This record gives sequence, structure tokens and C-alpha cells, in this order.
Amino acid sequence: MTSETLNTLDTSFKKEVYEGLTSSLKYLSSKYIYDKKGDKLFQDIMGMPSYYLTDCEYEIFSQQKVEIAALFETKGGFDLIELGAGDGKKTKVLLKHLVDNKSVFTYKPIDISQNAIDSLSVKLSEEIPNLAVDAEIGEYFEVLDRLKQLDARKKVIMVLGSNIGNLLHPRAIQFLTQLKDTMNQGDLLFMGFDQKKDPEIILDAYNDPEGITEAFNKNLLHRINTELGGNFNVDTFKHWEVYDPETGTAKSFLVSQKAQEVTIESINLTIAFKPWETIHTEISQKYDDEVVHWLAKESGLKIKTDFIDSKGYYKNYVFLK
Ligand code: AVJ
Repeated sequence: MTSETLNTLDTSFKKEVYEGLTSSLKYLSSKYIYDKKGDKLFQDIMGMPSYYLTDCEYEIFSQQKVEIAALFETKGGFDLIELGAGDGKKTKVLLKHLVDNKSVFTYKPIDISQNAIDSLSVKLSEEIPNLAVDAEIGEYFEVLDRLKQLDARKKVIMVLGSNIGNLLHPRAIQFLTQLKDTMNQGDLLFMGFDQKKDPEIILDAYNDPEGITEAFNKNLLHRINTELGGNFNVDTFKHWEVYDPETGTAKSFLVSQKAQEVTIESINLTIAFKPWETIHTEISQKYDDEVVHWLAKESGLKIKTDFIDSKGYYKNYVFLK
């Protein structure tokens, strides 16, 4: 990389796009899918019947809220911290129950999107007026570090939606270890892990015929076009999903259907695509008990209990330090 090129890489988005697209096997990080349009597309995905994850986790909250609340509740009250709160659809079931039950707690949703936090705060004040909400905008660990200093009472950290599935196992262990480091004895981590199941059901969740997932995946290229001055001809790329039942990894790709060049002005980069060359964009890891127990052990966490939906598709595990 020349020093001139380096100077142009002044945001992590630019830097990661440069690194990913100049690699011999091209890749882009799925975290950059989520701008305003990407958030909306993900909401649409959560509304698709084939995207079973949301319904399963919603069912767990609806049908097992009494047991879940009992684990969280404590005499001195607690802080319920949700990382990546989004629209809070699933959490609301639990929050309503806790409020009706006169639990002493504060709900602290954390999200990097100001947009998401604002609309969630408005919705919650309308729908659950007696709920104490103290939202934080920022990166997970920056906010968790701040919260660690508070330290006043029991913390329950929630990460829902199988969001951890975007991380390869070594990075998942890093993430869990960092979470453990912000916890005290008695604090809980409540986390969703999508389970291994019939490969066809998994593939269908990431491969809808309406093309919502395709549009979601391609939003990465749109963002490069609009924010970095790219000229991707998005229609010449094909969304492709594979699921490996052996490893439990679902992988998304954008495949170039022809030979072409793409220029990205703000990073001074022209890249050539051969016909059928790939850009790997996302992993959505699927788990079983053995793998989750291994991740917990590697991260210094203990599994206290878990909650499963009636189909056995999805699990929320409760971890202790
Ligand atoms: C939000 C990361 C859990 O991987 O299932 C949905 C994102 N990607 N459809 C997932 C997603 C394609 C989702 N997570």
C-alpha cells in the first residue's frame, strides 16, 4: 500500500473494504450491511416465515417468561442490558412481564444506531409507560466498560437473535471472554444460539424467493457505491447461500456473473472480477450443546441453564462467570 493510498483509508469502512476486496479470496464484513436501509431490510427478514429464528426466540420469551424472569429477579434490583437491541420486539414480552410483576430493574438497551435507540425509546414509553429505560448509544464494549464502573447492582446482559453467529469460533470466544470480563459474580449472560437442524430449513431462511435476503446482502455493494464512490453494477452479482451441516456454518456470497472491473474512488482502487468470482459477505453459525459448552469453557463461563423453543430449533443459554 502506498502512503497516498493509506491516507485515503481514514475510516474502518474504507480500510476493511480495501483489505477485503484486494484479498485473493474477496470478502466484506456483514457488519457494514446495517445502514438505515439495511436495518429496514433486516426487519423485513425478521418478518419472513422462513426466517424462523425470530419466531422461535419470541416463543421462548412468550411461553417461558416466568422462569426467565425468576432467574433475573433479585432483592436489590438489577440492570437488564441488551446489546444490539434493535426494535425490541422479543424483549418487550419479557419487559411487560417484569413490570407487571413489580420487578425492580432498569432496561438499558445498547445499540450503535442512534436511529434504532430513538425509535425504541419512543415505542417503549408508549407501550410500557412504567418501564425505567436508560438507553446508551455506542459500541458494545465501550458502553460495557462504562457500565462496569457503575457496578452498583446485579447485571443481566442479553444478546439475542443469534447475533454471535456472525463470528467465527475464535472471535466468538474473544467476544464471550470480553463479556465475562465485564461481569461480576452473580451477573448473568443470556444469549441466543440458533441450533443445527434440517439443512433445508436453514438454507430456506437465508435464501427466500422474494429476494429480501438478496437485497440485504447486496446492500453492502450499494453502501460502497454511495458512501465510497464505487461503481458496482449490483445486478450483475448473484446472492448465493451455502450451508455445511458438518460445521454448522451458513455462508453468504455475492458472485460476479461476468468478467468486470469495479472502481471505488475514495480508496483509489480498481478491482477486477473474473466470471463467477466470489465475495464472501457473512457467516451465520449454527450450534449444538457440545459446541456451546466448548465456547463457554474456552471463555471462562459456566452454563447455568437453557431455554428451547417447542420445535427445538433455537436455544437461549444462561451463562455465569
Ligand atoms: C442478525 C446476524 C443473526 O445471521 O441470521 C439474516 C443476519 N443475514 N439473514 C443472521 C441475517 C441474513 C442474522 N443475524
